[in-house]
Formats: sequence, structure tokens, C-alpha cells
Amino acid sequence: MIIKNVSLETVCGITSKLPENIHPEVAFAGKSNVGKSSLINGLMNRKSLARTSSQPGKTQTINYYNINDEIYFVDLPGYGYAQANEHVKAQWGKMIEDYLHKSKQLKLVFLLIDIRHAPSENDRIMYDWIRRNGYDPIIIATKLDKINRSQIQKQVKLIRTTLQAGADTQIVPYSAQTKQGREEIYEILDGILAA
Ligand code: GTP
Ligand code: MG
Repeated sequence: MIIKNVSLETVCGITSKLPENIHPEVAFAGKSNVGKSSLINGLMNRKSLARTSSQPGKTQTINYYNINDEIYFVDLPGYGYAQANEHVKAQWGKMIEDYLHKSKQLKLVFLLIDIRHAPSENDRIMYDWIRRNGYDPIIIATKLDKINRSQIQKQVKLIRTTLQAGADTQIVPYSAQTKQGREEIYEILDGILAA
């Protein structure tokens, strides 16, 4: 995939109606601070078009990035942000669930999991939501630069077993710092564009 032009086209809050796009959408889900916006920047070749922060809870809206007028990257709000109150947490959950349920152009969901840790209860719930909506998520194991090479296979296996994902579920280790894993993700996106 070659990135020619990108723009943040639509921002949806809790009360917004989701856009009816004509191009395919791929969504990026995962807990707060896992690196969704950083991954989207890496894929777009932009440093900071998607806003990132070391403080969890940065992205609180559903953000649609138009890529080459041919596909949308959809940055979802992070879940599991402990400091948010229960009301806010419930609203985010509803937004994400609504999006998965209603988007007609959604072709693929990437679920991001920090490669350093076993998936949390919320990660497992998210994985099951995605599957119940009929999607087979591809797992991106983020922050690859934070572990030693020798740990990668063990951590990937831990993610797979904790999510109870089958051997056919693709898990792609990725680093926003080194961009390792990016080509593999571009190939997945090419597959969607060719479909
Ligand atoms: P929310 O918008 O709060 O849901 O978070 P997010 O998932 O969009 O995370 P974001 O991309 O804002 O990244 C959170 C923090 O992790 C930032 O400080 C990033 O710089 C850092 N980060 C993200 N990906 C990586 C990575 O691959 N390696 C390292 N070392 N840091 C990363
Ligand atoms: Mg974000």
C-alpha cells in the first residue's frame, strides 16, 4: 500500500450519527494507551495527525481518516481507562459496540494488545464482541521495541492462549518506534483493497 494523501474526515462523538461511507473501513480497537493512534500515524506516515498522548484516554471520539480516497482508518476510543467514571466508561463501550454493529463498510478490525502483558479481562471482552459481530480480528501486538527479541514468541503465545484465539488468528508484532511490522499490515490492507 502506498500512502498518497490522508485527512481526518469525520469525528463522531457520543451523540453523532455515524457517516455512511462508500469506501471500506478498517478499525483499530484496544485499551487506552495501547498505541492505536500511534499505529495509525505510522501507517499514514505522519508524526501526529492522529493525536497521541502518554496519558490514557486521549482519543474519546471515533475518528475517520480518509486514506487516498480509497479506504478509511477508524481510530476508536480506548477502553479500560481506569480514571474515567462509570458513566463515561459505559458511553465509550456503547459507542464502540454501536460502531461494530452498525458500520456497513467495516471490513476488518485490528485489535491492539500490548506485547508486554497478558490480555486483560477487557481485552477478552473486546475480542469476543468483535467476534460476535461477525469479524475475525487481526491482533496487533504493540510496543514491540519494549521487549527483547528472545521474548517475542513467548509473548505472542501468551496473547493467543489468553484470548483463546485459534491458530488461524493472525498476530502481528508492531513497534511505532521502529515501524517493525508495518509491511505486514500494509499487505493485509492491500488484501482488503483488492477484494
Ligand atoms: P487512547 O487514545 O487513550 O485510547 O490511546 P492510544 O491507544 O491511541 O495510544 P497512543 O497512540 O496515544 O499511545 C500511547 C502512548 O504509548 C504514547 O506515549 C505513545 O508514544 C506510546 N506508544 C505507542 N506505541 C508505541 C510503541 O510501539 N513503542 C513505544 N515505545 N511506545 C509506544
Ligand atoms: Mg488514541
